[in-house]
Amino acid sequence: MTMHVVAGRSSPQRAAVPPPALVVNDVSVRYPNGHSALSHVTFDLSFGSICGLVGVNGSGKSTLFKAIMGFVAPASGEVRIDGGPVADAVRANRIAYVPQSEEIDWTFPVLVDDVVMMGRYGRMGFLRRPSPADRTAVTDALARVDMTAFRRRQIGELSGGQRKRVFLARALAQEAQIILLDEPFTGVDVKTEQAIVDLMRDLRMQGEYCDHVVLINRRLIAAGPTAATFTQANLEAAFGGVLRHFRLTGDALHDDADARSLTVLTDDERPVVFYGTRGDDAPKGPTSAPSTASSTPTDPKP
Ligand SMILES: Nc1ncnc2c1ncn2[C@@H]1O[C@H](COP(=O)(O)OP(=O)(O)O)[C@@H](O)[C@H]1O
Ligand SMILES: [Mg+2]
Repeated sequence: MTMHVVAGRSSPQRAAVPPPALVVNDVSVRYPNGHSALSHVTFDLSFGSICGLVGVNGSGKSTLFKAIMGFVAPASGEVRIDGGPVADAVRANRIAYVPQSEEIDWTFPVLVDDVVMMGRYGRMGFLRRPSPADRTAVTDALARVDMTAFRRRQIGELSGGQRKRVFLARALAQEAQIILLDEPFTGVDVKTEQAIVDLMRDLRMQGEYCDHVVLINRRLIAAGPTAATFTQANLEAAFGGVLRHFRLTGDALHDDADARSLTVLTDDERPVVFYGTRGDDAPKGPTSAPSTASSTPTDPKP
């Protein structure tokens, strides 16, 4: 139920006041069947940030990514990448997109090597003949996700986590400035989850892991730095009745007079733990993103 935008490097030539990496301005999307999937969503992200996009199933996360990529046409609003139109960024390979697994045809007969090489297609000529630089990029990307041993295997033969890592390698081989990952942590093993987190940290130039959060439910609920945005109130607005919610205080938590309480919000996949004297205290420290909260509650240090 999360996805991530990793906005890595900025363009070499920067204006005095550089434009945001990504601007989503008043974007609404209505599907041909009349379903309104997004309504007037506005936020922006600067380079050097990792943003978690959070919302329940059907809240429009995948739709937002497709709108950013230009795969669905917004009914209103616009998206800008590094100050320019999306089409320019896509053409120049400045943005990479890893779809959620359900949207990929895994029966398509293609080798791992070939999947990663697809990340280089935009850099090749009409005949798509890989150069030595393309081959090196593929080899390096596979090594970074620890999938070198699988490069001659069919993609359909791999586990969910291995497939994720191959698609991450494709995005890395593309050498994009911005990477959109749809549901990167769904159905992956712990090793893959750690590999993805490590890679996102490598790609980003500064800041903390998941330094920004955008919460949506067809419309924008909140967007901004994690500590200010990833609050209990905002999570409840985003998830409503979907989250189970329990709170421990007094005797149930402490054997002394400690007044602090522990609040756990969980969708039974990834619990989020708030520790403090107020119910809406934001989680402290760098591990405060929903997707990085481990399946055991975060260390509840005050
Ligand atoms: N091609 C489509 N045609 C009509 N409705 C769609 C289409 N794709 C998605 N939807 C609907 O739009 C809403 C948002 O979908 P989606 O963006 O996939 O949500 P999420 O990724 O957050 O689970 C859902 O109600 C979904 O059923
Ligand atoms: Mg989705």
